[in-house]
Amino acid sequence: MEKKEMLYEGKAKKVYSTEDPNYLIVSYKDDATAFNGQKKGQITGKGIVNNTMSNIIFGMLEERGIPTHFVEQISETDTLVRAVKILPLEVIIRNVAAGSFSKRYGVPEGSELAKTVLEFSYKNDELGDPLINDDHILALELATVEELDTVRGYAFMINDALREFFLTKGLKLIDFKIEFGKCLVGDDDDEAGDIILADEISPDTCRLWDVKTGEKMDKDRFRRDLGNVEETYQEVMARMKK
Ligand code: TMP
Ligand code: ASP
Repeated sequence: MEKKEMLYEGKAKKVYSTEDPNYLIVSYKDDATAFNGQKKGQITGKGIVNNTMSNIIFGMLEERGIPTHFVEQISETDTLVRAVKILPLEVIIRNVAAGSFSKRYGVPEGSELAKTVLEFSYKNDELGDPLINDDHILALELATVEELDTVRGYAFMINDALREFFLTKGLKLIDFKIEFGKCLVGDDDDEAGDIILADEISPDTCRLWDVKTGEKMDKDRFRRDLGNVEETYQEVMARMKK
């Protein structure tokens, strides 16, 4: 299938229609932003890395029974995906304290947590993606009780699968953000209304620390000006392919 019309341009991806309304093409960009778009830059090769890595991971998750929007890779930066209505929720899982969790609760980065944490943010750039709880989500009708149960179940399954997978690549999964979508129409695999994993799983959306050195191997290198940004993305992609 081929790109027809650009439907949406986000901070890191463009989304195109195809001849079939049930399918879209996502095109990953090298553009990088942080702090809700306040910091802007380019990470050469990031589009290729994030596309390649997301597709490898989505394939691995599908094998473990987690439905995803992935259909087929079209080029180094482009992928055919199922069209879904994205739930306006950023689903964050934290295995180790870092980032905004450390800041908000005054816990040093790297502290082990007594329990894996699931957080929701309301996906809304104007509001700065505020933290939101189950009652807020139901009150604002962002998802139903059943949808929330499904999302929560998948999120923990995905965490187990990712932790194990990244460890085989010498990476410790500190935390990550995922997004889910609702199928618009049914196909061979899913019925209309089913919740499936969408968006991406990449160094932009995960914190990954090298198991041996503790070095940050993710977008924090860009957010925090740690240097070797491009090289780190390439290294993560190389490990994914091993
Ligand atoms: P945080 O500690 O800044 O809240 O980030 C938690 C995780 O979510 C981290 O792995 C990075 C990821 N993330 C995104 O994918 N998009 C975002 O806009 C933000 C703020 C975080
Ligand atoms: N997606 C964030 C932004 O709004 C960046 C981040 O990942 O921290 O720019």
